[in-house]
Amino acid sequence: MQPTTQQPNPASIMQVGLGFWPSKVLLTAVNEGLFTHLAKKPLSLKEIKHLFHWHCMDRHASDFLDTLVALKFLKREGIGENAIYSNADDTNVFLDKEKPSYIGGILEMMNNRLFGFWSNLDEAMKTGKLQNEAANQGENLYEAIYKSPEKTREFVHAMTGIQIGNFIAFSTKFDFSKYKTLCDIGGSGAMLSIQVAKHNPHMSCNSFDLPPIEAVAKENINYFNLSDRIKTTTGDFFTDPFPKVDVIVMGHILHNWSEEKKLNLIKKAYEALPEGGAFVTIENIIDNQRSQNILGLTMSLNMLIETEEGFDYTHDDFENWAKQAGFKTVDQIPLAGPASAAIAYKY
Ligand SMILES: C[S@@+](CC[C@H](N)C(=O)[O-])C[C@H]1O[C@@H](n2cnc3c(N)ncnc32)[C@H](O)[C@@H]1O
Repeated sequence: MQPTTQQPNPASIMQVGLGFWPSKVLLTAVNEGLFTHLAKKPLSLKEIKHLFHWHCMDRHASDFLDTLVALKFLKREGIGENAIYSNADDTNVFLDKEKPSYIGGILEMMNNRLFGFWSNLDEAMKTGKLQNEAANQGENLYEAIYKSPEKTREFVHAMTGIQIGNFIAFSTKFDFSKYKTLCDIGGSGAMLSIQVAKHNPHMSCNSFDLPPIEAVAKENINYFNLSDRIKTTTGDFFTDPFPKVDVIVMGHILHNWSEEKKLNLIKKAYEALPEGGAFVTIENIIDNQRSQNILGLTMSLNMLIETEEGFDYTHDDFENWAKQAGFKTVDQIPLAGPASAAIAYKY
């Protein structure tokens, strides 16, 4: 038998090229709080139009909602003007703002900030310049965002949304039996510390970040009743010393900065750790062949849009930097989806 040759197929080109259409429908629905309303009770087409002040034709309101049905994010009984919509199981758990399992913060930020900034990707590629609210201001991402309390909160919730699955996986997969103390450098809303403390009752944690973040971190720690084992510290991780602890974690930190600054932070972690201590990064670490991890590769482009100098990296890159800093062995634990923990041990 002759081997069959695969015919060229345009389907995936179109799926990716037009991918921002369904993406924008989902982001708009999250931003409007559609799934939060539907978690309370199913709603008819007319009720949804009224609730969100949609003045478009019924036909277009149905198009919007039925796109979410086709994507399996909504369920529907009836059709057209008689349709009644309710949440699918996943959206009911993860996109209802009133549940602690809400992960839509990252989608709200995608809608409100990054959807627009990414339309300048070609400009970023040509100029190598960042494209967000810090553009032309001589500030970094955090100085620009933390001027606005609303944007600060949105950013912290976005970080929780994108990382919470990874933090739960890390807290349950990493062997904490040899350790007692942990510091999460750039800990944002303290969600990593909260998950580690929740799943490892012998661990005490410190969530270290810039001062504007502390109030939200404390709110979260109190909400989970963990203030006896989690404290917050404010400071600048480039200029202030790191606390002396057994495990130092950096989630989505190294990718914000240049290679030189990455190496400085890894060296500071090495110096702060005891013999046998562990340094952990939690990121969308790119596969060594740079041909698989689409989220890791596009996250790196997001660093161009957001920070200019930052970039994501492979596990080989991590190993190289960790060994330059003095660490002896490295390891990698797969977490949720395409993310993983890269770990360097000081022995
Ligand atoms: C991309 S967020 C990651 C947050 C969290 N670790 C996670 O994995 O979701 C980076 C964090 O680093 C903090 N950060 C940025 N520059 C800092 C600095 N110089 N000193 C301390 N924290 C800083 C920011 O406030 C922010 O919370």
